[in-house]
Amino acid sequence: MENSVKPVQFAVSILIGVGMLSVLGQSRLFAQSAVPNAQLAGRALNAKVDALLKRMTLEEKIGQTVQYSAGFATGPEGSKISYDELVAKGAAGSLLNVIGAEQTNHYQHIAMEKSRLHIPLMFGDDVIHGDRTTFPVPLGLASSWDPKLIAGVARTAAVEARADGINWVFSPMVDIARDARWGRIVESAGEDPYLGAALARGWVEGYQQNDLSKPDSVAVSVKHFAAYGAAIAGRDYNATDMSDITLRQVYLPPYLAAVDAGAATLMSSFNSINGVPATANPYTLTEILRKEWHFDGFVVSDWGAIAELRNHSIGPDGATVARKALEAGVDMDMEGNLYATTIAAQVRSGAIPESVLDEAVRRILRVKFALGLFEHPYTPVTPAYAPTAADRAQARAVAAETIVLLKNDPVEGVGALLPLGKAMKTVALIGPLADAAQDMLGSWGAQGDAKFAVSLKQALQERLGDHLLYAQGCGVLTGEDEKILLEGKPAPDDTKSIAEAVETAKKSDVAVVALGEDAGRMTGEAASRTRLGLPGRQEELLEAVAATGKPVVLVLFTGRPTEIKWAGAHVPAILEAWFPGMEGGHAVADVLFGDVNPSAKLTVSFPRAVGQEPLYYAQMPTGRPAHGDLSHMPANGEEQYQSRYIDEDNSALFPFGWGLSYTRFRYGQPTVDRPGIGLADLEQGHGKLTVGVDVRNAGSVAGTEVVQLYLRNTSASVEQPVRELKGFERVTLGPGETRHVEFSLGFDELSFWNAQSKRVVEPTTYKVWVGGSSLAEAEASFKVE
Ligand code: NOJ
Repeated sequence: MENSVKPVQFAVSILIGVGMLSVLGQSRLFAQSAVPNAQLAGRALNAKVDALLKRMTLEEKIGQTVQYSAGFATGPEGSKISYDELVAKGAAGSLLNVIGAEQTNHYQHIAMEKSRLHIPLMFGDDVIHGDRTTFPVPLGLASSWDPKLIAGVARTAAVEARADGINWVFSPMVDIARDARWGRIVESAGEDPYLGAALARGWVEGYQQNDLSKPDSVAVSVKHFAAYGAAIAGRDYNATDMSDITLRQVYLPPYLAAVDAGAATLMSSFNSINGVPATANPYTLTEILRKEWHFDGFVVSDWGAIAELRNHSIGPDGATVARKALEAGVDMDMEGNLYATTIAAQVRSGAIPESVLDEAVRRILRVKFALGLFEHPYTPVTPAYAPTAADRAQARAVAAETIVLLKNDPVEGVGALLPLGKAMKTVALIGPLADAAQDMLGSWGAQGDAKFAVSLKQALQERLGDHLLYAQGCGVLTGEDEKILLEGKPAPDDTKSIAEAVETAKKSDVAVVALGEDAGRMTGEAASRTRLGLPGRQEELLEAVAATGKPVVLVLFTGRPTEIKWAGAHVPAILEAWFPGMEGGHAVADVLFGDVNPSAKLTVSFPRAVGQEPLYYAQMPTGRPAHGDLSHMPANGEEQYQSRYIDEDNSALFPFGWGLSYTRFRYGQPTVDRPGIGLADLEQGHGKLTVGVDVRNAGSVAGTEVVQLYLRNTSASVEQPVRELKGFERVTLGPGETRHVEFSLGFDELSFWNAQSKRVVEPTTYKVWVGGSSLAEAEASFKVE
């Protein structure tokens, strides 16, 4: 029987199951401007803020704009000053990296009892993918294509963060990341703005619950504004340079979705955008964020970024760059110590109008009031954390939803290698990531503790007992990477260990080879790579194990797409497990043995060679498309003069949206409910058309498919990508079951930014594809006229 599924309605359905109700529907996903956040606006709130502001001295005002790291450092040169004294003077508005109820209460008592105006502190921390309960890294979470799941993760993280005294999380990171060399791709949702916007909304709603005043809500800091992920050559902190069209079409939508969902704060980024540092950029921080999007919260700089404006050479001294940052719209200085030291004199001399400072202070106070901190400044002290059964169950179920089955070819005499069948009695577990509990936690582990993390070895041991054989084979970091990371220390010689691993594989029925990156040193901030292959001798280990003739399952634990061309051609089964969090080992085992049927899909393209980077599916067309390009335009026939490489295909090894299941999904022909849609209707915001498709589970087990809709605008005043994601829906189907899935398309999906920086719809013909990845083939078309 066919069931009709409503159009993709992320936001309205996101939070069912985590006890929240969203007020925002799908139509706002790609909105042009945000709805003013009622919690941060309104007369009553502004009256309270103004009354307080009137009583503040210049020094007290500046104090609110200053944030110090009073715990540990998460950047260069952490400050070492007496925070007790500063807080008592009202010279700090926020502290970061102070963790735990006792610690935060200590400072909060000083702020509330000793400072003249009793203004509470905000306590910020990098709670990125869980606080105490560690979930998969954000790139893994994104692979679930499930905003509801992400909202649930954010909810758990918020509850735990509040118990740790944290009322402000530096999350979500919504930077579009299209270059796998960039270490922080691991913190992102990947390459696509539409998906990124949907997931950003899930994060914000999970953390803030549309009600900052709830005792278990935390304020978010959406980062890094803006376009940090477009760092040239994938080198962290590097400049970005892009057209206004690209900025608005590709990079801004997730920030806007987060603002629209009520984000209380944003963090400005380290990079420059078209020559203007993002931390002193009036265009992004004021024109777009405040004037176009009506953002009422505040902006904090990234760590030391205001002081670093001196290195960007946009002013002769600290005072000048601090003034530029404040005037551009950065309200709080994170650990830069320039607002604290240079603003007062400039206000006194008239170089900075006091009204500019007042506005920054108002924005900060609005968030403090909205969080209810004046009434409830302290955190009850609770016993030390140990994961509960519920925490573990959530972490395990979430992780299983993030593991991508990249490949599952039949093996002679076995059939599809995964899930591992009964014949695979003795399993050889090999590789440097097999017994790596710490790496399972990924970068930015917050309060996560490796003692609670389950490695793949531990999980397989629980299932297989004596039928599990193990050999590490080699280290993660050897060869070139090790030379760089270990500052010239000689690489360990793993020849003997590789030989042992080969002997271990020979004694087994199947080898599970767990390879990847060092989570702490090779992924995350300041961890860009110029090589994307498996580091050290891991590839050699893999080839040696495969040469035994035993069937091989490759399990990748990485924070980015890696270059795995050899494996893609020679290894029958590959799972991308990312860094799957505290229950990662169990979750991978659940997928290996078929207790969970994988449903995750890539949100980043896997390159064939690093030289293809930045690589993403939504490429612009060229006048000389190559054979096999997604462009679906005829190639010009002269291979030499096509837009291609002479030594590699253009396509990804595994493309965006890709991910297999233990069942097979079959797509019918997509249909559009009418041949076209009127331009005027679209412009007035009420035109919609519906694309429908039948999806059938043609296999013998139940499974979940992420049904994806892609569009191509075939004729416009500015060129449009060869494909763009404009809808997706997770559907779970029993064996043999068919579901009719519908997507609704209107102004938000069909409009684009033109050369005059206007969001427009124009008469055109659209091609539409629906399928299980960005390679979707079933095609239909409609007109805008
Ligand atoms: C620098 C990072 O870029 C940012 O993401 C983080 O939130 C801050 N440091 C605070 O640790």
